[in-house]
Amino acid sequence: MEEKKHIFLSSPHMSEERYEQAFVKEAFDTNWIAPLGKNVDGFEQEIMEKTGVKAAAALTSGTAAIQLALKLAGVEAGDLVFCQSLTFSATANPILYENAVPVFIDSDYETWNMSPKALAAAFEKYEKEGKRPKAVIAVHLYGMAAKLDEIMELCQKYDVTLIEDAAESLGTRYKGRYTGSFGDYGIFSFNGNKIITSSGGGMLVCNGKDAEEKARKARFWATQSREPARHYQHEEVGYNFRMSNIVAGVGRGQLKVLDQRIAQKRYIYDYYQHALGGLEGLSFMPMLEDTFSNCWLTAIQLDPSCKVQPLDIMLALEADDVESRPVWKPMHLQPVFAKYDYVDNGGVAETLFNQGVCLPSDTKMTEDDLERICDVIRKL
Ligand SMILES: Cc1ncc(COP(=O)(O)O)c(C=O)c1O
Repeated sequence: MEEKKHIFLSSPHMSEERYEQAFVKEAFDTNWIAPLGKNVDGFEQEIMEKTGVKAAAALTSGTAAIQLALKLAGVEAGDLVFCQSLTFSATANPILYENAVPVFIDSDYETWNMSPKALAAAFEKYEKEGKRPKAVIAVHLYGMAAKLDEIMELCQKYDVTLIEDAAESLGTRYKGRYTGSFGDYGIFSFNGNKIITSSGGGMLVCNGKDAEEKARKARFWATQSREPARHYQHEEVGYNFRMSNIVAGVGRGQLKVLDQRIAQKRYIYDYYQHALGGLEGLSFMPMLEDTFSNCWLTAIQLDPSCKVQPLDIMLALEADDVESRPVWKPMHLQPVFAKYDYVDNGGVAETLFNQGVCLPSDTKMTEDDLERICDVIRKL
């Protein structure tokens, strides 16, 4: 019997044209094998041009970008940071790196992202105690945009820095503008599973006033805070967070096929919708009106009354050598964050965690692969 092909959730997909290799080769040929060079500068510039952000700093990871965004926002030990609960832990960990205090915010069903209602309630609750966060971190989960207008209005009202965790949403547009370009800061990830990958890496983007100055400060911190002196002079704590010129070369090559990857991810989302949309008790992660999503991962939700539950789907797919995964376990339910406050909107994040599944969304899948996956689910 012919062995079945393993299907990944979302794996690296280099360009047919091998653009990535050409940029990496140039780095080799010119001996720029360092955390600086033409690819690093070029990658920053090209991300700025693509997404309309004002300034960018290429870093070793999206997590590092969040940490530096918090530092730029002036977050210090003991400061509050309001953070979406339904996300990957990398959104919240940097808050603890800075010895700040996260307050987790529930999601809503329309976006699965930060609920503006819960965010408003969090501001009101803490205002009563005479406290205000230094920053808000909103996420665009699985590529779907959060309710940016409402979230930005609240951040403006309370004069608080907004950081967009756009790790999963490169290329997603909200009302015609790219995610990452709305907040004071935005971050992108080029981790191996992302819509485009540099094998690992991230980008901090800055939008507010003095954007380039802020990005320059981030680059300074990211290169060990080395002062411009002949000797090694350090007046601030530094980090080794700068992206390598090799990694940036892969990123530049991948950026050339971003639109192609988005079209493929959107095709996958549409395929699942057509094939599975009619099944009772199964619904898709919604897309906000007036948004264009990169559809990084297609996520579904199963009604609690449905006889098929997320684990049934994940196990059946696993038995067929197909990867899937649960929706992120909310941060307020994680032991490491259990002692921090959480502002609830009726348990949305927890319900989505219990009822959700991320379906394989690998851009290398063929139509036969998609049909195979849908067949497994239909049979259940
Ligand atoms: C929502 C979210 N935030 C942050 C990150 C962190 O990015 P990185 O892996 O590049 O550190 C990721 C991905 O890994 C993510 O999915």
